[in-house]
Amino acid sequence: MQAYLQAENDGLPIREFGPWVAEKLDYLKRYINIFETSMHDKPWRRRCYIDLFAGCGKCYVPASGRVYLGSPLLSLTASHPFTDYFFVDSNRGNIDALQRRCSVSPVYDRVRCLLGDSNLLVHDIVNDILAVDSERIQGKWSSLNLAFLDPDGLELQWQTVAMLAQPYRMDLIIHYPQMGLNRCMGQAFEAEEKTAVDLFFGGTEWRQIYERWKNRPRRFGLHRQLMDYYKERLQDLGYKEAFRDDEVGDEPLIRNAKKRAPLYRLLFASKHPLGREFWEKVIRRDVYGQGRLL
Ligand SMILES: C[S@@+](CC[C@H](N)C(=O)[O-])C[C@H]1O[C@@H](n2cnc3c(N)ncnc32)[C@H](O)[C@@H]1O
Repeated sequence: MQAYLQAENDGLPIREFGPWVAEKLDYLKRYINIFETSMHDKPWRRRCYIDLFAGCGKCYVPASGRVYLGSPLLSLTASHPFTDYFFVDSNRGNIDALQRRCSVSPVYDRVRCLLGDSNLLVHDIVNDILAVDSERIQGKWSSLNLAFLDPDGLELQWQTVAMLAQPYRMDLIIHYPQMGLNRCMGQAFEAEEKTAVDLFFGGTEWRQIYERWKNRPRRFGLHRQLMDYYKERLQDLGYKEAFRDDEVGDEPLIRNAKKRAPLYRLLFASKHPLGREFWEKVIRRDVYGQGRLL
């Protein structure tokens, strides 16, 4: 049964990914480690981990034959576990497999596996957090929360991010779907109705950025501008720590292993400078040990 929580095949459904999945999971694992090591003994009333696109709990990379613990199981097996876990996936097979894997954990009573659309279920999760935060508990701080938002493409809606911003402390690691946007933006720009791109950015203002970029003779930097726009909106939600002060940016780019084509970025936001400090430590090197210039 312990195989359920190990990075190995356990006979339950598992999903195939490209080798780049290792990079994403490594950043997350190290963020969780630094976050929980520093915070587990502070008087937070709860430390919640929220994974809105949780998957089945394991990832298989055919190219290497390796199995990895997926994001929910990385958080569950951390050396200092969170006090509460909210795992959501819209696929029943994924949630069933994830629940079975979690069931052998010594902290299974802290886990809620929810089947459905994250963009709807986020309301229940945030209300649960806010309800406990509003209780009078002497000597305790508010809850400290971390949300990992890792859809396949453009399924994460801005209104979901805005909802997650409601608790006092909620760090965010967001999959910014660069390739998905490249595929959809041309058509979405022309569309009169609301598109997945509009839902992702929470409006149509992105279309102006896209239009300015499209009309430039040398077209560079579209995603820098779009991510800055997204981060400005995060700042409006209270994420004072959405930006670095220089131009380098701090969103690791995950690329396709063979063609090196950009797939997605990991965008970080915190309301507290310590969150940013942790993230900058984490992204100083990638899973291959390569350093980044910061
Ligand atoms: C990239 S995978 C997540 C991988 C996971 N983070 C891991 O590390 O193993 C994206 C997941 O989101 C789920 N999904 C897609 N749209 C969703 C939605 N609207 N609500 C909830 N889950 C969704 C898919 O079923 C899929 O399992």
